[in-house]
Amino acid sequence: MQEKIEMKVSLTVYPTADWSEEDRVLVGMAKEIMEKAHAPYSDFLVGAALLLENGEKLMANNQENVSFPVGVCAERAVLSYAMANFPMSKPLKIVISAKKRNGNKFATVTPCGLCRQTINEYENKFQAPIQVMMLTPEGNLLVADGIEQLLPFRFNDLNS
Ligand code: THU
Repeated sequence: MQEKIEMKVSLTVYPTADWSEEDRVLVGMAKEIMEKAHAPYSDFLVGAALLLENGEKLMANNQENVSFPVGVCAERAVLSYAMANFPMSKPLKIVISAKKRNGNKFATVTPCGLCRQTINEYENKFQAPIQVMMLTPEGNLLVADGIEQLLPFRFNDLNS
């Protein structure tokens, strides 16, 4: 007898009026660093700003390579830096913004599969969800309360 296993996921749209002061700062950082992306091949600029529990706010952008698969996404760049330098501080939220070079509005961006798995890694490390906040073309924040909302049925245990 077959059994269907279902998982319900959801995202929340936060209009600007509902952002916290901290969210506003993180959005500003993501937008600022996005403009400095090294993206000569895709012309798709991405910025990510990360808040750690110790109050540290860090930012990074995508770094492409002439050998395309070598490129690194903004989310993994900032998480790698954060976890290398502040290994004991829990990541709380990551804000992501993106746009085409010379574009006049934000692109829709959700983290790629590798970045979702990377976010999952640090949720596992700290046993706590990380909020993923994505700036939309309308200028709202689309929020996932933890990677489970973006990566259901994820791989996170070598022992079971
Ligand atoms: N990219 C990111 O940095 N983050 C995302 O969430 C989506 C994609 C980058 C990778 C590549 O440099 C460019 O955007 C186009 O895929």
